[in-house]
Amino acid sequence: MMCWAAQPHTLYLLHAAFGAVGAGAPLARTSPKMAEESGSPRDCVSFSVLNWDQVSRLHEVLTEVVPIHGRGNFPTLEITLKDIVQTVRSQLEEAGIKVQDVRLNGSAAGHVLVKDNGLGCKDLDLIFHVALPTEAEFQLVRDVVLCSLLNFLPEGVNKLKISPVTLKEAYVQKLVKVCTDTDRWSLISLSNKNGRNVELKFVDSIRRQFEFSVDSFQIILDSLLFFYDCSSNPISEHLHPTVIGESMYGDFEEAFDHLQNRLIATKNPEEIRGGGLLKYSNLLVRDFRPTDQEEIKTLERYMCSRFFIDFPDILEQQRKLETYLQNHFAEEERSKYDYLMILRRVVNESTVCLMGHERRQTLNLISLLALRVLAEQNIIPNATNVTCYYQPAPYVSDGNFNNYYVAHPPVTYSQPYPTWLPCN
Ligand SMILES: *[C@@H]1O[C@H](CO)[C@@H](O)[C@H](O)[C@H]1NC(C)=O
Ligand SMILES: *[C@@H]1O[C@H](CO)[C@@H](O)[C@H](O)[C@H]1NC(C)=O
Ligand SMILES: *[C@@H]1O[C@H](CO)[C@@H](O)[C@H](O)[C@H]1NC(C)=O
Ligand SMILES: *[C@@H]1O[C@H](CO)[C@@H](O)[C@H](O)[C@H]1NC(C)=O
Repeated sequence: MMCWAAQPHTLYLLHAAFGAVGAGAPLARTSPKMAEESGSPRDCVSFSVLNWDQVSRLHEVLTEVVPIHGRGNFPTLEITLKDIVQTVRSQLEEAGIKVQDVRLNGSAAGHVLVKDNGLGCKDLDLIFHVALPTEAEFQLVRDVVLCSLLNFLPEGVNKLKISPVTLKEAYVQKLVKVCTDTDRWSLISLSNKNGRNVELKFVDSIRRQFEFSVDSFQIILDSLLFFYDCSSNPISEHLHPTVIGESMYGDFEEAFDHLQNRLIATKNPEEIRGGGLLKYSNLLVRDFRPTDQEEIKTLERYMCSRFFIDFPDILEQQRKLETYLQNHFAEEERSKYDYLMILRRVVNESTVCLMGHERRQTLNLISLLALRVLAEQNIIPNATNVTCYYQPAPYVSDGNFNNYYVAHPPVTYSQPYPTWLPCN
């Protein structure tokens, strides 16, 4: 019983054999997070209790072995999310950094809630809520994570010889630190060759936590981690902790319905970097449909505007698009073309008031990428003639070259920025 006393998680009740609460049962005010935020618009409707089906899928995700591939001669690390979370968490606490909670985020959380939801479950995205008041904490978190990797090296490797810098070079795919007025977080992404990177995110504050309702889910792992630490019995339908999910979109039930029925909805897409445009087209190609056909026209314009604000330069757009295709369609060559055609349609219909030259340039870029995709797949034997079909517009110097976005400094969330300009 020491375990109970030592941990602050007694709030989460083990509802052994008392009949599980079904998913979607409105939740009483039991989450510590919720109590803090009562009075804010994100109220208890944004939380829900997972049913057994969902909890068992979560258990699978947490206990599945994920290989972390090392560069060069470094051995592959065989980790489970459960082990990496427990190790990082306890080492952070030893280092004096309190972890408020740990969550599974994004597509992995979506997969736990609705199996085969059409979004795919690629990245394994974990959020640790911690305070990062100064640079020192950022450093400490980074060092703790790198040192935790030592625990996963195979037997027989001389750990004394391996420094954090070496571990970083061997296993870390991405290191990101964001430190602005509204956002304070860091990301350490561990490499997996098949794109199933384990993304460890340490979040003090972050303003925008989702793009669309269907990717707005987070699952709070603390109760289950506590169960793993304390229970001598395996998890089962009759013995499992209460696990809580949250939708950052705001209304859990609504977002859950969108996920089940493949519906697209979002709020203020102009707040999303890149406007969510690429993700939106991705949802469309996966047969997701807008919840509201009228509203989506307005939203599409906001998405496009923000996209052009963030990536005003044609080369940047090209890089962004190529990276997106590589990361999201690696094993779905056939959808690439459809994706680009959808994106082209959205850009064509939604940027009517953007300068003609800029718009044509982007449309041509998308067409050319689409052609390249077809040629790569040998669907067209020779791209030469098909290029003519799209007839790239001749370079027209636009007399009305009202380049309203380039003049602005990099866009930050807090300042108002131009969105779609109405015609005349
Ligand atoms: C969680 O995942 C969503 C969807 O992938 C993403 O938009 C969001 O930024 C993630 N949240 C955090 C805190 O990383
Ligand atoms: C682009 O939009 C215009 C009008 O909005 C439409 O007439 C044209 O057919 C569209 N072209 C493509 C390729 O979607
Ligand atoms: C493609 O066709 C054009 C003209 O039809 C020809 O000049 C060119 O050599 C062809 N390219 C390939 C790779 O077959
Ligand atoms: C391209 O078009 C020309 C003229 O229509 C035709 O003669 C030629 O065979 C075409 N080339 C290919 C590779 O289809």
